[in-house]
Amino acid sequence: MADDTKNDDPQGEPRGFRRNLTNYGDREFALYLRRSFAQSTGLSKSLMNRPIVGIAQTGSDFNNCHRNVPELVEAVKRGVLAAGGLPLAFPTVSLGEVFLSPTSLLFRNLMSVDTEEMVRAQPMDAVVLIGGCDKTVPAQLMGAASADLPAIQLVTGPMVAMPFRGERLGACTDCRRFWAKYRAGEVSDEGIDTIEANLATTAGTCAVMGTASTMAAIAEALGMSLPDTAAIPAVHADRIRAAEATGARAVAMIGKGPRPSEIITPKSVENAMTVLLALGGSTNAIIHLTAIAGRRGIEISLARLNELSDRTPVLVDLKPTGQYYFADFHAAGGMQALLTELKDLLHLDCMTVTGQTLGERLATPPAWVDRGVIRSRAEPFDPVGGLVAVFGSLAPRGAILKRSAADPKLFEREGRAVVFSSLEDLAARIDDPDLDVTPDDFMVLQNAGPLSASGMPEAGYLPIPKKLAQAGVKDMVRISDARMSGTAYGTIVLHVSPDAASGGPLAFVRNGDRIRLSVRDRRIDLLVDEAELARRREGWQGPDVPARGYRRLYAQQVLQADQGCDFEFLRGV
Ligand code: FES
Repeated sequence: MADDTKNDDPQGEPRGFRRNLTNYGDREFALYLRRSFAQSTGLSKSLMNRPIVGIAQTGSDFNNCHRNVPELVEAVKRGVLAAGGLPLAFPTVSLGEVFLSPTSLLFRNLMSVDTEEMVRAQPMDAVVLIGGCDKTVPAQLMGAASADLPAIQLVTGPMVAMPFRGERLGACTDCRRFWAKYRAGEVSDEGIDTIEANLATTAGTCAVMGTASTMAAIAEALGMSLPDTAAIPAVHADRIRAAEATGARAVAMIGKGPRPSEIITPKSVENAMTVLLALGGSTNAIIHLTAIAGRRGIEISLARLNELSDRTPVLVDLKPTGQYYFADFHAAGGMQALLTELKDLLHLDCMTVTGQTLGERLATPPAWVDRGVIRSRAEPFDPVGGLVAVFGSLAPRGAILKRSAADPKLFEREGRAVVFSSLEDLAARIDDPDLDVTPDDFMVLQNAGPLSASGMPEAGYLPIPKKLAQAGVKDMVRISDARMSGTAYGTIVLHVSPDAASGGPLAFVRNGDRIRLSVRDRRIDLLVDEAELARRREGWQGPDVPARGYRRLYAQQVLQADQGCDFEFLRGV
């Protein structure tokens, strides 16, 4: 047999097709068989002897946000080939946010398992992960953190907001803005149809600082993406150049690293939290970052999130809290400008995929910064971070409020609970003209958390009841164990843990109970005495566990939001 061991690792670890052989009890036969099948692809002998870069490709007709994945795969391949590697793309689960029922989060862990196991099982020496839509980047980073093979994240990039009748429209804050107007009777049926056709008009992920944009920034802040690639628009030629450079860099990492275990550390996770706060990023990101960190045995405490939030200003003027889009952020100086501004709050000794530390990366200041979009530390958009955790008798393990997207007038309040027991109950009664609700009430949604049958959907943005919306009410305190889209806004308490379906206090709130919210004190309390709560708990039963399949595994394994909604058996190293 041909001697192709010259490309093996100096320590003797096999590379390329010699790696991860199928077990027939005869290693030489396994290699012979694999190579003979690989010959059928038409690869030349010299290419077959190269080290391999796997490309996790997530193009799918059910994922519009990944429309440009085929183009990116080609560019990554070009970079790999030019650098001396053999690129081999492989499919994994792809999660298109709005095409999944009941909700995409339910399948994030499935995608992470798929990614981890295909990276482990197939003969690759490094991997490029192409993701973008909300749950895909977290799933890929979780899988990569567990597989611990040299890996680089490449994102599809944000959509570009397009001009429309004197303004620019971009998914999906504008989707919600116009839907709220439609519900209030300010936009006609015909008008909303026209808007629908103009909200998402290019390839790429949601145009605002939603979950996809936040996770792209977090991947780079962790050190898992090439510098300044997080926010390059999906349709820009630089996005393709970034893909080519990512492929080349993946080859350079073969045998040398750094591996995810050297990049995803307690310090880099804190850096990512700081960036999340400075961006006023999506509340979903704290769940995803907790899950990614958990794969390396790193705990994120919500108390620490509060400490970081109190010292980290919001520096960007991006929707849903501000006025600009993620592509504008890139044009304004992007991640290099933001990270430079935050330099004294970051751990600069963290390693990145380039082999440089974050400090080395930031040695060169950005060439240009548009201070209208990315503020200086001296003139922040907001002096404190975008997210805050609250704790109390209603949420013993915490809940999250995106204060940068909320109305401060509602931060220190006591209100009467108006309870919806499920999503179905909410849909059935929210617009009932007889619903007993006032603008001062606290709307409470139960059974929409991770253990509920709905799998923690982005339902925490409870609509303002139609009769109040039509009377001009724009915001109310809303509380749930659900999540909220990163593109939404309002005084909304999310991720209440433990959730109602696991028997947390949220399950026992009743209409008319009093609830006190104090953002200043980081508190959320149900003002019902313990004896009454004990009475309500009697005979309580959680939801049935599905009889079979992935949904059964999910119900048996999923953890609460404060542990990232990962599966118990997937955490740790
Ligand atoms: Fe894919 Fe928003 S729907 S990023």
